[in-house]
Amino acid sequence: MQSSFNANNLVESLTKAAYQSFQDGKSIFGVAHKNLSNRITNLFVPNRANQGKPLTSQTLEELQKRRNKLIETDWQDAHQGIYSSNLLFDNSWSDFFFYYPQVWLDLPHMWERLNEKEYQSFSPEIDQTGYPSYYLQNFHYQTDGYLSELSASLYDLQVELLFNGLADAMRRRILKPLKEGLNNFAQINSSQLRVLDVACGTGRSLKFIRAALPKVSLYGVDLSAAYLRKANQLLLEELGDLPQLLQANAEQLPYVDNYFQAVTSVFLFHELPPAARQNVIAESFRVLSPGGVIVLCDSIQKSDSPEFTTMMENFPVIFHEPYFRHYTEDNLEERLAQVGFTDIQVTNHFVSKYWSARKPL
Ligand SMILES: C[S@@+](CC[C@H](N)C(=O)[O-])C[C@H]1O[C@@H](n2cnc3c(N)ncnc32)[C@H](O)[C@@H]1O
Repeated sequence: MQSSFNANNLVESLTKAAYQSFQDGKSIFGVAHKNLSNRITNLFVPNRANQGKPLTSQTLEELQKRRNKLIETDWQDAHQGIYSSNLLFDNSWSDFFFYYPQVWLDLPHMWERLNEKEYQSFSPEIDQTGYPSYYLQNFHYQTDGYLSELSASLYDLQVELLFNGLADAMRRRILKPLKEGLNNFAQINSSQLRVLDVACGTGRSLKFIRAALPKVSLYGVDLSAAYLRKANQLLLEELGDLPQLLQANAEQLPYVDNYFQAVTSVFLFHELPPAARQNVIAESFRVLSPGGVIVLCDSIQKSDSPEFTTMMENFPVIFHEPYFRHYTEDNLEERLAQVGFTDIQVTNHFVSKYWSARKPL
């Protein structure tokens, strides 16, 4: 008995150490990539070097603390069974090896757009009809915005590099409030529960939700057909029911009222103009059944993280993020309350902020 207890402890300690090393490796790679690519970009786009203010050593220390706390929380949530510890190591290695060189090959196109100050440029073969105008942007200077297969293939890797390998750990923070929110429906068989991920992109959050809630029916919407194809590919890689994916505008969700028990959305709101943010919240409220829960994840804001104000002000200057500045000052709690959500809870993990709220019974 005693020896099996110790063996379990040893396995746990080893898994934790492996996870920490895995994250350290991703951080080192992310920082090295950013340093090098910034230096080279500054050579080709000299104006860019003076953009953005330097971060103080206190800010960097605070960031490091938040990073360590996020990793610990990720580990603890897995340890407590909110999801399997296998998820901690989830990484698209084949995409990494295949697409990392492509990230570099895409840089000269980005420099060209930076020099020309062209942030709404798309390859001629891309059909731009039917999209809201705010969406037709090269967010982060991405080639073809969200509208090409190449963009969909590079996206996960670019986000991981941006967040020094912590993007998935931040996405997984929606799982605990999501599961807690669904406790409201404990009397319903979980195979009859429906969860919608709004702006599901390449499907990483759906993958994590499916792993944490394998019996629940999952749905995803996104405006980008290319990203949905990539999501479908990712979700096919492992066993499990395939989420139903639909190309749609989150401002007009193609579902009847009261259809879902939960709605999630990750990293969408900072890319929406204010009115669209309100519309997406209103639509999420409409499609949720009474008692249903909404869980949102996006960037930190000035109100909750004033110590990161410089970082938040640098972000839209260095990357093309036309709605970010307004987002950092927007009151999403008020927006949620305005459409009728109650029990609004707010938390932060690393550089992300999370809202959970309930549609009243
Ligand atoms: C920053 S990405 C986030 C994707 C994904 N949730 C993630 O965690 O990586 C923003 C996503 O929102 C989608 N999007 C932006 N505006 C949208 C809208 N009005 N309706 C639906 N999807 C939208 C984009 O196509 C893109 O996939």
